[in-house]
Amino acid sequence: MARFTIITFGCQMNSHDSERIGEVLRGAGHAEAAGLDDADLVLLNTCSIREKAEQKLRSEVGRIALLKQQRPGLTIAVAGCVAQQEGAGLLRRMPDIDLLIGPDNISELPRLLEQADGSAAPLVRTEFDLAAPHFLAAAAEPGRTPVSAFVTIMKGCNERCTYCIVPHTRGPERYRPSREIIDEVRRLVAAGAREITLLGQTVNSYRDPLSELEPAPGAGEAPWLHTRGLRAREDESEFAALIRAIAAQVPELLRLRYTSPHPRHLTVSLIRAHQDLPVLARHVHLPVQSGSDRVLRRMLRRYSAAEYRERVAALRQAVPGLTLATDMIVGFPGETREDFAETLALVRHEGFSLIYGFKYSERPYTAAVNLGDDISEAEKIARLAELIALGDGMRTQLLREQVGTKQSVLFEGRGKTGALRGRTERSEIVHVAGPDALIGQLKEVIVTGSYKNSLLGEVPGMAPQGPAPRQPLPRAPGVPRALPVVP
Ligand code: 5AD
Ligand code: SF4
Repeated sequence: MARFTIITFGCQMNSHDSERIGEVLRGAGHAEAAGLDDADLVLLNTCSIREKAEQKLRSEVGRIALLKQQRPGLTIAVAGCVAQQEGAGLLRRMPDIDLLIGPDNISELPRLLEQADGSAAPLVRTEFDLAAPHFLAAAAEPGRTPVSAFVTIMKGCNERCTYCIVPHTRGPERYRPSREIIDEVRRLVAAGAREITLLGQTVNSYRDPLSELEPAPGAGEAPWLHTRGLRAREDESEFAALIRAIAAQVPELLRLRYTSPHPRHLTVSLIRAHQDLPVLARHVHLPVQSGSDRVLRRMLRRYSAAEYRERVAALRQAVPGLTLATDMIVGFPGETREDFAETLALVRHEGFSLIYGFKYSERPYTAAVNLGDDISEAEKIARLAELIALGDGMRTQLLREQVGTKQSVLFEGRGKTGALRGRTERSEIVHVAGPDALIGQLKEVIVTGSYKNSLLGEVPGMAPQGPAPRQPLPRAPGVPRALPVVP
């Protein structure tokens, strides 16, 4: 039996993989270590989507290798995208690593650890499960299952965004059978989950490999600019059908979210599902990446800014009050000040509630390598700062406008101050002084104050109790009520 510790880099998908890794190891009789100091196995779950992934890994491995000098039995395993991307080459550059394992090989970990134990040479296992895709089911244990849980519905990506390494590290799209997904949602909800987030690289391109879903209302309709005519038939996504099946078959589920959708598959059927199903949260994270058509074309995003706006407008019309979060890349090769100004204009127009802004970072094995990386670091930093300042200002303003409103809040646990922490339908975090009994419950909350990134609230008729949240920001006098809309 080994005592293990997992260090995770990167996105929700990776955190989710780390949880599955923990479950696989516990299932094989291993136990979680208290920390690095008493671990026999350190597993680094890596991410290579942006910047210096390998350098980061190298410094972590270096730090752990020092411990290994004192404890020669210590095993260093590297999982995730960097392992998949670099394979055996990585072992030549970092000889302290004992085991490299790809995202599709997690279930083989116990066997590989046994092998690594008796082997002088490091082991590499980075095979995609293309012929028989396998999805590790999340353990559903009362007491361990969080109020808000994640369920993977697909993996890999068939897009070819020119900046992105994911198709290389995660392989082509593979979908999980809908019956398995629904079963997992049901088990998690029975174990205490109240909110589920469906996960996938392009989550809304989902199709059921066993074809067991009823077609969703609106399937095949495509009034959009760029999918008119022949290309309309290309969208065979069954994501809306999956959502409807989950809502119908697990009625105890209080909230359903998904991340990250591709704008190309924001279909009429998905918009209808949002309109019809109260379980779907009024918030979508819809990465746009840029507001400039020229840049979007060079990124191979396969939509224009107008097409993005057209779909978003249809979604907003169907779901009043819906908020959108997005991802943006600044400093993509050839991005001019004018292109960037178009990005800022899109931000002003859409009023995103949250922007994840990134400086372009050239990745190996991507097509954009051929475009050069011609925007200086200083210019990237300046553009990112401008984007973040605009996004933050709009976000704080949006939050401020909620003060005095009633929101339905799902309580997830306690935050840093010890106060209850919940989320509105629109994904805003709300702090409330309240009892543990509220955790896992959906309650109407009056918003009484706002912070830079979250809200303060009270449950009507319930006296504040337990640790109190921080003081909110003062309400600025004369703040305009509505977001500025720039055409
Ligand atoms: N450089 C900068 N940002 C990137 N992203 C993906 N690849 C890169 C890259 N090479 C961002 C995109 C994506 C998010 C997950 O990471 O905005 O939506
Ligand atoms: Fe990367 Fe584009 Fe696929 Fe997203 S859709 S994972 S950005 S290739």
